[in-house]
Amino acid sequence: MCGIIGAICETNVTPLLIEGLKKLEYRGYDSAGVAVETAEGLKRVRAEGKIAALEEKLAETPLAGFSGVGHTRWATHGAPAERNAHPHKSPCGRFLVVHNGIIENAAEIKRSLLPAGSVFESETDTETAAHLLTKFYDGDPVAAIARTLSVMEGSFALGVLCADFPDTLFAAAFGSPLVAALGKDGAYIASDAGALPEAPEEIYSLKDREIVSLTRGSLRFYNEKGEAIEKTPAQVRVQALSVDKGGYEHHMLHEIHQQPEAVRATLAGLLGPEGIDLSGSGLTEDFIKNELERIVIVACGSAYHTGLCAKRLFEGKARIPCSAEIASEFRYADPVIDRHTLAIFVSQSGETADTLAALRLCKEKGAKALSIVNVALSAIAAESEGVILTQAGREIAVATTKAYSAQLSVFYALAIRFAALRGAIGSAEEKALTHALAELPERIAEAIDSTKQTAETLAGRLFEAKDMFFIGRQLDEAAAAEASLKMKEISYLNSQAYAAGELKHGTISLVEPGTPVIVLATQDAISAKTRANLAEVKARGAFTVAVTTRALAPAFAEADEVIVLPDVCQWFTCSLAVVPMQLLSYYTAKRRGCSIDQPKNLAKSVTVE
Ligand code: AGP
Repeated sequence: MCGIIGAICETNVTPLLIEGLKKLEYRGYDSAGVAVETAEGLKRVRAEGKIAALEEKLAETPLAGFSGVGHTRWATHGAPAERNAHPHKSPCGRFLVVHNGIIENAAEIKRSLLPAGSVFESETDTETAAHLLTKFYDGDPVAAIARTLSVMEGSFALGVLCADFPDTLFAAAFGSPLVAALGKDGAYIASDAGALPEAPEEIYSLKDREIVSLTRGSLRFYNEKGEAIEKTPAQVRVQALSVDKGGYEHHMLHEIHQQPEAVRATLAGLLGPEGIDLSGSGLTEDFIKNELERIVIVACGSAYHTGLCAKRLFEGKARIPCSAEIASEFRYADPVIDRHTLAIFVSQSGETADTLAALRLCKEKGAKALSIVNVALSAIAAESEGVILTQAGREIAVATTKAYSAQLSVFYALAIRFAALRGAIGSAEEKALTHALAELPERIAEAIDSTKQTAETLAGRLFEAKDMFFIGRQLDEAAAAEASLKMKEISYLNSQAYAAGELKHGTISLVEPGTPVIVLATQDAISAKTRANLAEVKARGAFTVAVTTRALAPAFAEADEVIVLPDVCQWFTCSLAVVPMQLLSYYTAKRRGCSIDQPKNLAKSVTVE
């Protein structure tokens, strides 16, 4: 949610800022702006909409200078209009501020400033920070920032330019991601290290109201009181964000096709010569065998859906009680967890605010915290006791595909190993499952190839639907949840996922002649029940599509359309069933003329609660 970039270097900074903003656009695209320390002083240019609109404005009003900040916005306070676009100006014009996060007490701060004559030109919370800087400034910007931070509540990352210090850039953070980096050609700040213009020689993650001042060749850090502190650089390999679509029309389609590789690379870190190797996860065999009593999986959105699938495996196959929880609910539910609980946090970005808060809660309660994240330099990775990194590569499309698949593959490895250690499966079965898991990337590749055409054709039939339903049982229910989210997220078509047997308890009243009902049916043991549910909706005139296995296809032949998946072990069917559903959403969104990679109202990483 919102992306910040800042640079101080020896060449014109504006093109660097724009390039950085393009890489950060996944974080929000309601408006964008840059401020630069020019020969005529601090200047800003802002535009409503995407970075392209800002570029057009900059073509008319170019900005040149050696230091500057840029911002791409996901609106929280105030409409997505130019007047609310960052950078925001302090009343004296001395400070220009970009902000990511939410200043929760902005209304009170505003009220406290009004009697002194403060006039606000935007509806944003950010502008209050600019006003506070003016109020507290006595010639020392670091001290003014420290005092400003002491007043602000919520979460924030700030980039600040001060007209009195044209050769310095300032930044601070609390609860929102921000890195400060030193490179060969300059010094930088960014909401995501992947947006930095060069590979950093030193990189630091800011937290706990830390402040940094950057000059071309140095970074100086301060604590919340404005006192100088030492920080140790992070030891991580920065994965650069790329705007390359690999020859595909959209990032999403590119990323769908990258799934076999994402899963292969992720499994490479988990499959050793002796089988599944969890030694890098921070989990001991003793804990899994003797101490573990319960697993809770906490996440949001699609990451939560991987948890729904994993729950079926941990509980149904490894025989360990397990629940999958939505982070924003779980953190306020006073959950029963203790040191015998393994809490698993799943996040592509590693910075989802509710997931991070849930992680902190579980740690406080003494649970063992393991995270599955795709971004190494992220708060969730930093704060977890154990981390398994998915190797999906950076995901740009807001709708996740390859990170979802990579997360599922981690869960498969965990479930197989846990099942073996707890004695729920024997070593021969463990071996066979591990072997099948190693082959999963090929099966996913086959699923992409074999279902793509059908998905595209089907989209031509479904794209004008009013409502759509995805139903399934057990693992298929988990896959249906993800399929439905994909559909509504990018095609703006109302879709719902339901446990197939639950439909007749109310929702079936929405099924009308022609309503598309996609029936996911990959589980042999319960296929007869799912087939009965298909018959029920068909009897009410639904247009039915069965997504099933080769073995079950004859049983679902009465569906109007049957999508047959490549053969795969029953544990891993979610990974295949979701593929034609991703493609169906993609092609449906395309037919509906939607903004596929940047759907309306959304942002890739959700750093507000
Ligand atoms: C999925 O397509 C979504 N864009 C969204 O649900 C996402 O999975 C969710 O916001 C969680 O994000 P995270 O994995 O970065 O924590």
